[in-house]
Amino acid sequence: MSMSPRPPIPSFIPESAPFTAEQRTWLNGLFAGLFGLQDSITPLPAADAAKLFGGLFDGAAPAAAEPEDDGAPWHDPAMPLADRMKLADGRPMPRRLMAAMAQQDCGQCGYNCKDYADALFAKSEDRLNLCVPGGKETSRMLKQLYQEFQSAAVAPAAAPAEPKPASTAAAPGRSRDNPVYATFFSRHRLNKPGSEKETWHIEIDLAGTALDYVVGDSFGVFPANDPDLVAAVLTALDAPSDLPIGDRTLREVLTDGVSLSPAPDMLFQLFSYLTGGQRKQKAKQLAAGEDPDGDAVTLDVLAALHKFPGLRPDPEAFIEALDPLQPRVYSISSSLKGNPGRVSLTVDAVRYEIDDRRRLGVCSTFLGGRVSPGDKIRVYVQKAQHFALPDDPSKPIIMIGPGTGIAPFRAFLQERQAINAPGRNWLFFGHQRSDYDFFYRDELVAMREAGHLTRLTLAWSRDGNEKIYVQHRMREVGRDLWTWLNEGAHVYVCGDALRMAKDVETALTDIVAEHGRLAPADAARFVAELKANDRYQADVY
Ligand SMILES: Cc1cc2nc3c(=O)[nH]c(=O)nc-3n(C[C@H](O)[C@H](O)[C@H](O)COP(=O)(O)OP(=O)(O)OC[C@H]3O[C@@H](n4cnc5c(N)ncnc54)[C@H](O)[C@@H]3O)c2cc1C
Ligand SMILES: NC(=O)c1ccc[n+]([C@@H]2O[C@H](COP(=O)([O-])OP(=O)(O)OC[C@H]3O[C@@H](n4cnc5c(N)ncnc54)[C@H](OP(=O)(O)O)[C@@H]3O)[C@@H](O)[C@H]2O)c1
Repeated sequence: MSMSPRPPIPSFIPESAPFTAEQRTWLNGLFAGLFGLQDSITPLPAADAAKLFGGLFDGAAPAAAEPEDDGAPWHDPAMPLADRMKLADGRPMPRRLMAAMAQQDCGQCGYNCKDYADALFAKSEDRLNLCVPGGKETSRMLKQLYQEFQSAAVAPAAAPAEPKPASTAAAPGRSRDNPVYATFFSRHRLNKPGSEKETWHIEIDLAGTALDYVVGDSFGVFPANDPDLVAAVLTALDAPSDLPIGDRTLREVLTDGVSLSPAPDMLFQLFSYLTGGQRKQKAKQLAAGEDPDGDAVTLDVLAALHKFPGLRPDPEAFIEALDPLQPRVYSISSSLKGNPGRVSLTVDAVRYEIDDRRRLGVCSTFLGGRVSPGDKIRVYVQKAQHFALPDDPSKPIIMIGPGTGIAPFRAFLQERQAINAPGRNWLFFGHQRSDYDFFYRDELVAMREAGHLTRLTLAWSRDGNEKIYVQHRMREVGRDLWTWLNEGAHVYVCGDALRMAKDVETALTDIVAEHGRLAPADAARFVAELKANDRYQADVY
């Protein structure tokens, strides 16, 4: 593959403008061309520009934007909600709804973001709190937009007909709306004693579920809340645990029916009805998303009860005011071909402290501690969209997965080993310390020795004084990466969406520019083309 080097493009788009580096580069090129500053600028073909900007600029000039199908290019998890909403301002309502969602197509709500937005607009979906990564901030914005189009009586007919959840609700275990029971089989810790992290290898037995999956898919798990937290909430409520709520008890509903994490606005609204004076005012402010005491982000349900002691809300009204407990998804870290009848996950347990109280990530600590071998858990397979091995097993692959980002790559390696895929495999793995955090060390070393893992490049961020991350290692071996790319390699990145994935993309673009001798705009275009051709795929969270 070769592209002729070009002079650098002048910058029209400030660094602070809310575009990705890729979008900014393309826009600078476009404006340079439009203003005649750079004869050599060739705008991307319309289809490529549409992919880069989701159709916003229609491959020509901003004036050609198609308001009905703009693709929401600002829908970027790393962009603050306020900026996303600003960019979506004036767009059709489904696009504004989509801009409020926090992470593109993570799948946890059971839809793609566009389908969730369309479903809300068509009123075939009325749950405004399904976006797990967006949490309260997103559900608040969705509520505001919902009220806006309700009161404006915008014709829902403008939305596409019958938006469907990403997976078929009818098929058992293929959607969050129709989970099945599988058997928790085992867990073992992947970090050695002394590590600052707590990451678990989890095995789940699929016997009796009729479930299967392909590598690249994710696995949805319905967790249960920590019983100690449930007990503390019952105490603060001063309500009997066996109080009937529908056909269940209060304890049961608190255990697996409702989220006890961020206290929802509705709870504060309920509190505002039950109290007076300054406390009423505070509860109202909190319900409106304000932060009168500067502690709003620390208020889970128990902390909210403690903040308004003695209110004793009616338990049924209390439960009504809480959000439903949502499933969480995890990248599958096994191949059925290497691990028949089972699925494995690689789960980082979220535990932290606020105000001297241990807070627990509900699902990661459920899998990493509360569930026992033999227990039945509610699960489903979340089909991957654009995250899969190349169809051609002879293609080389480059996998970049620090931390839990290794999960799908363990699955890829198992799969390619099981089918004797001739394609070369290169893994970049990194974590804090080589002695404690080298996940799947024996397996990877064995695969390396057997020649199945062609290259294993490691980055330890806390072994020395200097932080070494995967992207630093990528830059060191940039020439080889460029060679692999020219030989048709597919590139994958998995793990942290907010920082790592962006830094890896920047490193890749710089490598392409340096070793391909391309101008930055062309390097960005090269990477955009890799993405458009499904040769650069991400599974980030
Ligand atoms: C497609 C996809 C694949 C994924 N794959 C994996 C995977 O392979 N492995 C994996 O471990 N996870 C993975 N995740 C993340 C996973 O779905 C959950 O989000 C994660 O396990 C946390 O869920 P939880 O229920 O334990 O925590 P929650 O109860 O949801 O709590 C997490 C929240 O706690 C808060 N929080 C966390 N730490 C702190 C802190 N120090 N201080 C203050 N607040 C804090 C943050 O608000 C955070 O959002 C994936 C996510 C997606 C979308
Ligand atoms: N939604 C959730 O609640 C949830 C749950 C689990 C994990 N996560 C997030 O998911 C991500 C994965 O967590 P994890 O446990 O797998 O590992 P991680 O925290 O991402 O750490 C893995 C390695 O990546 C390094 N790293 C930090 N910043 C980086 C960057 N900009 N570029 C490249 N590498 C970088 C870390 O180094 P240092 O730490 O030494 O800097 C560490 O060596 C994290 O962002 C984590 O916060 C979120």
